[in-house]
Amino acid sequence: MHNDVKEVLISEEEIAAKVLEIASAISEKYKGKPLLVIGVLKGANVFVADLIRKIDIPMTLDFMAISSYGASTVSSGAVRILKDLDEDIKGMHVVVVEDIIDTGLTLSYLTKNLKSRGALSIEICTLLDKPERRTAPIEVHYKGFDIPDEFVVGYGIDFAEKFRNLPYVGVLKPEAYA
Ligand code: IMP
Ligand code: MG
Repeated sequence: MHNDVKEVLISEEEIAAKVLEIASAISEKYKGKPLLVIGVLKGANVFVADLIRKIDIPMTLDFMAISSYGASTVSSGAVRILKDLDEDIKGMHVVVVEDIIDTGLTLSYLTKNLKSRGALSIEICTLLDKPERRTAPIEVHYKGFDIPDEFVVGYGIDFAEKFRNLPYVGVLKPEAYA
């Protein structure tokens, strides 16, 4: 598996330091407030698992699954809710946690959808951002790293469902896509 990686873009250590930084900012901001963290499946699973263990205020966790790329590396533009939240978000301060923002289509749809459900506030947290690729405007409140317009895998992020278990973020060798 590691043999398929051309380059490590962000190491485990760099990710861990950033997770702590973001978790501290969230803990500070939502002290004394009802906080709901929403992980966007499946890609944000690893990030959200690490992040919530560094948030040191009371909070609840829920998940949504949204359709994105399927087995291709090109966005289909189609956004579908595959799994909805288990709990009502009315009266909650929501932080949506994503693995990576590319065009922004997924999150722009999702935030509109969540706003209509009566949350007190909605903020966006993403591990990775490809700002050059943005077509839908979104405000990102907590960001791990800006990355160039390259297809990345690892730390929860897949290519055709594989490589989610890499502990770092990397770029694959061309032959790994074959
Ligand atoms: P957006 O709607 O174009 O912003 O796409 C966001 C989603 O596309 C992410 O949550 C990922 O699931 C997927 N995605 C975007 N870029 C990459 C990448 O470089 N590697 C793997 N998945 C990606
Ligand atoms: Mg995703």
